[in-house]
Amino acid sequence: MPRTVAAVGGGVLLFDEIGSTNTMAREMVAAGRSVAVVAADRQTAGRGRLDHTWTSAPGESFTVSFVARAPRAIATDERVNGWLQMIAGLAALDAIRAAVCDANDGKLMLKWPNDLFCDGRKLGGILAEMVMSPAAFDVSADDADDDVALVFGIGINLDVPADRLPTAQATSLQLNYDLRGNAAADAADSGNAAVTDADTLRDRIAAGIAAGLRSRIAAFAADPRDQAATLLEETRQVCWTLGHEVEAHFTDGSTLRGEALALNADASLMIRTPDGKTHVVRTADVGVLA
Ligand code: BTN
Repeated sequence: MPRTVAAVGGGVLLFDEIGSTNTMAREMVAAGRSVAVVAADRQTAGRGRLDHTWTSAPGESFTVSFVARAPRAIATDERVNGWLQMIAGLAALDAIRAAVCDANDGKLMLKWPNDLFCDGRKLGGILAEMVMSPAAFDVSADDADDDVALVFGIGINLDVPADRLPTAQATSLQLNYDLRGNAAADAADSGNAAVTDADTLRDRIAAGIAAGLRSRIAAFAADPRDQAATLLEETRQVCWTLGHEVEAHFTDGSTLRGEALALNADASLMIRTPDGKTHVVRTADVGVLA
């Protein structure tokens, strides 16, 4: 993954097969090993949000985890920390657009909190996890004890044909964009031979996400309150969930049906139930019904 190595300056690990890139990244961080990106061709124990499993087509999918550093005070502040996972979703949308279409493409959106959607179907998802130990970072730095590691595991269906998608509701980049035409155009620009395989696409997207995460998290850490307002506006523009009838599934097994009314300043979702009451949802699996 040459572009990714160039974007992060090292610490990129690529496995043929691994249990879960997120688990590996977390273990490495906890063990004090330096790592920026963990990628795999095949995951045997891929994990999704809320303890779901994550399945993906080997060699045709994006299964990559990114390790970022953020101030502990921000990562643990519930008034603003919901934006960290939104940042990952926005960085992923930017990187996918740059690789396969133009910046104004309206098909790529986020389903709250951070599913990647394309034309109303699930293209991918993000598992954001925090590792409190700062051991992976430079402990000689003055502020090392004040930071936490964030692991953003991103799964995307890249060059996956319809018959190899994980569910009937899923989609892939192959089914929506001319991947080969884009690669050819890119190759013509760079003067390199056109390579149309999923590896090249993965590298291009991973490099974009790594760069986007770095710049977005730096801006957020510098001024979280101001950035939260900016992110709120940006996320509203690409939030597939807003205005739709949704059903939120909570970890205790309860559900809530209603209209996804608004995003709040802390990145939570406001749902209005048929009785007219509004409910603030912070953590749930939110399915769009109509
Ligand atoms: C979700 O939609 O529930 C989130 C899916 C996250 C999947 C990715 S694939 C790379 C990384 N490794 C994992 O085990 N999970 C994430």
